[in-house]
Amino acid sequence: MTLEKNLKERIKELTCLYEVSSIIVNNDYKELDKTLFSIALSIRKSLQYSKHATVEICSGTFHLISSTLTKKTVFIESNITIFNESKGYIKVYYPADKFTKKDFLKEEKKLLKNVAINVGDLLERVTIRENEAIVKRKMEHADRLSILGEITAGIAHELNTPLANILGFAELLKSKEAGSTQASKDLDKIINSAIFSREVVKKLMFFACEMPQNLGLTDIIPVINEAMNLLDPTFKKTEVKYKVTLPKSPVLLKADTIQLTQVIFNLVLNAIYFSPKGGLIKIILEEAKKKIILKISDEGPGISAEDVQKIFQPFFTTKTVGDGSGLGLSVVHGIIRSHRGTIDYQPNNPTGAIFIITFPKQ
Ligand SMILES: Nc1ncnc2c1ncn2[C@@H]1O[C@H](COP(=O)(O)OP(=O)(O)OP(=O)(O)O)[C@@H](O)[C@H]1O
Ligand SMILES: [Mg+2]
Repeated sequence: MTLEKNLKERIKELTCLYEVSSIIVNNDYKELDKTLFSIALSIRKSLQYSKHATVEICSGTFHLISSTLTKKTVFIESNITIFNESKGYIKVYYPADKFTKKDFLKEEKKLLKNVAINVGDLLERVTIRENEAIVKRKMEHADRLSILGEITAGIAHELNTPLANILGFAELLKSKEAGSTQASKDLDKIINSAIFSREVVKKLMFFACEMPQNLGLTDIIPVINEAMNLLDPTFKKTEVKYKVTLPKSPVLLKADTIQLTQVIFNLVLNAIYFSPKGGLIKIILEEAKKKIILKISDEGPGISAEDVQKIFQPFFTTKTVGDGSGLGLSVVHGIIRSHRGTIDYQPNNPTGAIFIITFPKQ
């Protein structure tokens, strides 16, 4: 290669590096594929035989190629590293019928390495931004739920005493009203409505973690088995199947067994409600080193991305009027939080809902 040609090549490479840096500086995170495509074109321009070259950039969900590849090729490649892990590559190809590997200059390999480092840095920043957005959303969600919890606790508390009075005095009147007079029937309606309202208040207090707890270290396997036994008739009636998978040895957890039963009840009853006839509900308990994981999955329609944000809020329901108060999952959330656990939703494959509860081991 003549000195002049050599110099021309160097200039092209330096121009490429400069271009890549300015493309990255001007990157719009919403249009990352555009940025990567400009980088690919810039690399191509810098090559000795640019007209014959094809550049491919591949990392995670991104995969782009500057032109279609011929069948047989020769190529050089450089790995893209994100947080010290190899997460993709940049490759430059020439068609094998006209070129050999020797046609790639030493400097071109070095250039590719430099660009791959820059692309890795860019993708690292993208990952950081995405993680920040997820954390922010989670915090906002937790904030809203805890404010809701405080308000609900206040309301439930205020309603508790007058409700107890309504119920108490109605029962007193009824004991004085003999026989089945109209007044006695009306009193029954008052009593039933008061009992229903008291249940709602109780659920609200659960959601707000205001319910007294009876925590003790217990094996939760019998708790799950007992809850499932109680639910068995409902399964038979609705023609939904279930399968319980439990570890062989006891799983010890510091828990309030009545509250834990309520969690299982609420989740399984939801799963049954949304299951098609013949659908399978799986209840799986697993023990990891530091965690106890309970999964409840069904084969119903699952929950839309939009609704997932709302399911733990009190009174959110998509059931038909009269079928649900929208308090089940709020109660579940309250109980699990008071056990220092977490509950997450995941879509089931191919369809359905999976609720995953994780308790830390003591
Ligand atoms: N397994 C599931 N499959 C599909 N959607 C579900 C499932 N579990 C919960 N949901 C959605 O979450 C909503 C809230 O559930 P939640 O248990 O809090 O209230 P509810 O079941 O509607 O009423 P309640 O539990 O008070 O009778 C449901 O109405 C439904 O839209
Ligand atoms: Mg429910």
